Amino acid sequence: MKIIHAKNYNDLSRKAANIISAQVIMKQNCVLGLATGSTPVGIYRQLIDWYNKGDLDFTNVVSINLDEYVGLPVNSPQSYHYFMHDTFFNHININPENIHLLDGMNPDAVYECRRYDQMINENGGIDLQLLGIGLDGHIGFNEPGAAFDLETHCVRLTESTIEANKRFFKKQEDVPRLAYTMGIKSIMQARKILLVVNGENKADILRKAFLGPVTPEVPASILQLHNSVTLVADEAALHTLL
Ligand code: GLP
Repeated sequence: MKIIHAKNYNDLSRKAANIISAQVIMKQNCVLGLATGSTPVGIYRQLIDWYNKGDLDFTNVVSINLDEYVGLPVNSPQSYHYFMHDTFFNHININPENIHLLDGMNPDAVYECRRYDQMINENGGIDLQLLGIGLDGHIGFNEPGAAFDLETHCVRLTESTIEANKRFFKKQEDVPRLAYTMGIKSIMQARKILLVVNGENKADILRKAFLGPVTPEVPASILQLHNSVTLVADEAALHTLL
């Protein structure tokens, strides 16, 4: 694993955006695996800035998002569909046909997840997968205990995730209990992984993920077995790892 130290959140955002930008420049029709959460927001802002300056062109880029809440319509501001358009896609020249997200309103979980896996394969797999990490070690919505050999599937969110994500909702009861997520197997098949971690509250889980055993109890620990992981993290998140 390559560790890139960032001084602070802005520095993290620029460094990670540089890696994504290099990918887009080197392979114009690359497949980007994209993530939600607070951590990537600065990265998307930086990429939009470079796009506006004419340094980046997303015409042929394909995007595939990691996960989506079950039961939220696309126009719900808390859906990841809304988040990705509002935060990123609406501000760049990506072709709408190249944007792929799970349909959280599809009640047929088996059909929806198989459709997604097939779509990933048809696009030739993911070149660069952007990942954040949950406080409980989740990647995407693969919660502790998730089997490592799963592709896209439906999950029940843990109390820790519901608690952490309630800040985006009016009240805790509004947080969906189910989500569709690419599985660990799908994530591990990405050719390159870019993990971004920010803040003191992630230091403990980051240490467990990279210095502890590889175990489904800490889903991100599987990344120890991937041959191309770049971690970009700020000092606060990194201090227990080094
Ligand atoms: C959500 C997403 C994850 C993300 C996590 C951490 O649960 N499903 O993909 O990594 O939040 O988000 P944050 O960056 O806000 O800490």
